Amino acid sequence: MVSKVKKNILKLRESATLAINEKSKNLIKKGKKVYRFGFGQSPFQIPEKIVEILKKNAHKKEYLPIQGLPELRKKISKYLFKKTGVEFSEENILITPGSKEAMLLMHVAFNGEILTPAPSWVSYEPQAQIGLNKVHWLETSQSNNWFPTAKELEKKLRKIGKKKNLILILNSPNNPSGAVCENLEELAKVAKKYKLIILSDEIYTDLSFDNNYKSISKFYPHYTFISGGLSKWCGAGGWRLGFLAVPNGLKDFMKSLKSLASESYSTVNTPTQFAAVEAYDGDYEEYKLKVRSILLAVGTYVYNNLKSNEVLINPPQGAFYLMPEFKNKKYKTSSELCEAILNETGVAMLPGSDFGFNPKKMLARLSYTDFDGVEFFRNVSDYKSISQEMVKRYAPNVVEGTTKLSNWAKNL
Ligand SMILES: Cc1ncc(COP(=O)(O)O)c(C=O)c1O
Repeated sequence: MVSKVKKNILKLRESATLAINEKSKNLIKKGKKVYRFGFGQSPFQIPEKIVEILKKNAHKKEYLPIQGLPELRKKISKYLFKKTGVEFSEENILITPGSKEAMLLMHVAFNGEILTPAPSWVSYEPQAQIGLNKVHWLETSQSNNWFPTAKELEKKLRKIGKKKNLILILNSPNNPSGAVCENLEELAKVAKKYKLIILSDEIYTDLSFDNNYKSISKFYPHYTFISGGLSKWCGAGGWRLGFLAVPNGLKDFMKSLKSLASESYSTVNTPTQFAAVEAYDGDYEEYKLKVRSILLAVGTYVYNNLKSNEVLINPPQGAFYLMPEFKNKKYKTSSELCEAILNETGVAMLPGSDFGFNPKKMLARLSYTDFDGVEFFRNVSDYKSISQEMVKRYAPNVVEGTTKLSNWAKNL
């Protein structure tokens, strides 16, 4: 019988993140202590004023324009200009229910193929499959901070051939590696030469620890999309507020994106859009500095206590992830490795294979957010000096889980 579900949809599988969460829940039910290093969610509270504005607008029930509230698009345009130095007019900005949806619409509209580095966020490949866009992977290395070099990119492009439209996805700070891309300018040069389109996934840019974020759009404004939103920097993942900024060279995309938006979600919910105006217009520098300092302190603790002869790891640079590599001869795949770690130590992590790596590479994504961010935040009076003692006090699960993991690795 002919399948009732389309082939490209049948190929999709449940996200690995959900699978590990299920397994963790089962272990917790059985009374086992689980360190939730598999979960990528901000532990901090949304700034109060933004929540207040949401409440004040809760009664607003009218649909807003498909593309989004003009005032919000104006503020995001300003925010992007300040951050990237590139002018995306409000006409080039689409408000979406999370940046995930923004990227999905782009995949559905795009006629071409996708090039994405390994490691990459878990949803890029499935989204490309939904859009019927072939995916090419470009594996990176720890020595190059988990981003492609210009040479590697060019070599791959020659292999793919010049005749197709091609989007390169770049995500910095990166999920899963927690690394920041430091060779944007040279990558932009190659992109220009091969007329690539870039999707710069900037959902974590406000969580760049050196506070000096550069966007690749600065070096290649004509063909770089930017996606972003409220989910990570202000902990509002459940609010589902994201955006896509369309570059001037691809302005025509907006018409199709708007059609797709109008035939699917219509428009993002009204109260959240009003609250987002405040999020992009208000002064939240102090809040961001504090959040970043806490994450950096916790990430550095994990890094210092995990790096060893048995565990290769790069220092944290942004977001809330680290990507340890285990020296191992016992397990055949990173899934097997992560399963053994979960069973034997209670530490839940995601295997590197979920992020595009060869399953034989003993990599895992470690998210260091298993702590009460509200409590930690409240107790930080000087964000410039967050001691190890504070990390021990306010992130005890992260500390304990790291010790368990480090001891486990020594016996590999
Ligand atoms: C790299 C990356 N991009 C995009 C997203 C999507 O975020 P949202 O749809 O909440 O804006 C996530 C969320 O986990 C992510 O890690």
